[in-house]
Amino acid sequence: MTKELTLSIIKPDATRRNLTGAINARFEQSGLRIVAQKRVLLTRAEIEGFYAAHAERSFFDELCTFMTSGPVVIQVLEGEDAIVKNREIMGATNPANANPGTIRKDFAESIEANSVHGSDSPEAAAVEIAYFFSKTEIVG
Ligand code: CMP
Repeated sequence: MTKELTLSIIKPDATRRNLTGAINARFEQSGLRIVAQKRVLLTRAEIEGFYAAHAERSFFDELCTFMTSGPVVIQVLEGEDAIVKNREIMGATNPANANPGTIRKDFAESIEANSVHGSDSPEAAAVEIAYFFSKTEIVG
């Protein structure tokens, strides 16, 4: 077991419904620690850069429009196996396939408006954390 960091984003569908605290409680109750957090309105350029790996997907344009439609809460979560653990807490990308008790099962509106993003690998976590935070902003 190793202590890891992962990037999490609480998406506009969740901030709009005032679910930031409810979602953060899921992380904290599962043993993850929020070691950096900021609420921002992303620019189109920022989210296009963040989701660059999805640029060729049919849903890319709509996804970027959704992600700039309201505030997001961007955070770094710390804990044992934080990357896998966070993906378990979030549930499947499509809420229709998410397990009971997961964030997406309980809160997501659709496959696009799925309430949270979480890094899917150690490599992605390193890139995604550095995209939004400097080292001095992460306080464990
Ligand atoms: P996320 O984990 O942030 O990674 C990419 C995002 O694209 C995903 O969550 C969804 O919000 C969105 N997404 C994935 N598949 C689809 C799809 N088929 N249609 C619309 N949006 C999608």
